[in-house]
Amino acid sequence: MNVTLKTVARSGASNISLPSKLGLALLGLMACLVLPASVALAEGDAGAGGDKAYTCLGCHGVKHYVNTYPTYHVPRIAGQHEAYLVAALQAYRSKTRSHPTMQANAALLSDQDIQDIAAWFAAQGAE
Ligand code: HEC
Repeated sequence: MNVTLKTVARSGASNISLPSKLGLALLGLMACLVLPASVALAEGDAGAGGDKAYTCLGCHGVKHYVNTYPTYHVPRIAGQHEAYLVAALQAYRSKTRSHPTMQANAALLSDQDIQDIAAWFAAQGAE
């Protein structure tokens, strides 16, 4: 009787520790995946950014564009400094800069997307 109880208790304990071991293993795996990606972030790829910026142009590509409702001007970002664009998009994504439309747009972007898009817009002449 005693032996049976001990066995149950022991297997119960090992059942509990298994998920947390798994969690640690996953965490380690994620760190391995994330680290090389952030090292590769140094430069934006303007070529890739051109494709990714397609949705942005619906608003940012039009001169003197004003939304119908609510009425606001869309800032021109072509020719803007790359670092400024990266900072702005990260701020929208982290919601430290408020604007519902841009927060929704930036929420879809990865760090690499932001770098690429910023590189592309920065390379566009400010006509
Ligand atoms: C539905 C229209 C719309 C779309 C689509 C859109 N934007 Fe915007 N964007 C705006 C408006 C309006 C503002 C001004 C928001 C504010 O006042 O902070 C803005 C602001 C910005 C700013 C800050 C500019 C500045 O001068 O500080 C950046 C950078 C930007 N958008 C980049 C993008 C990128 C990149 C995309 C595509 C992923 C995109 N936007 C898609 C409407 C849009």
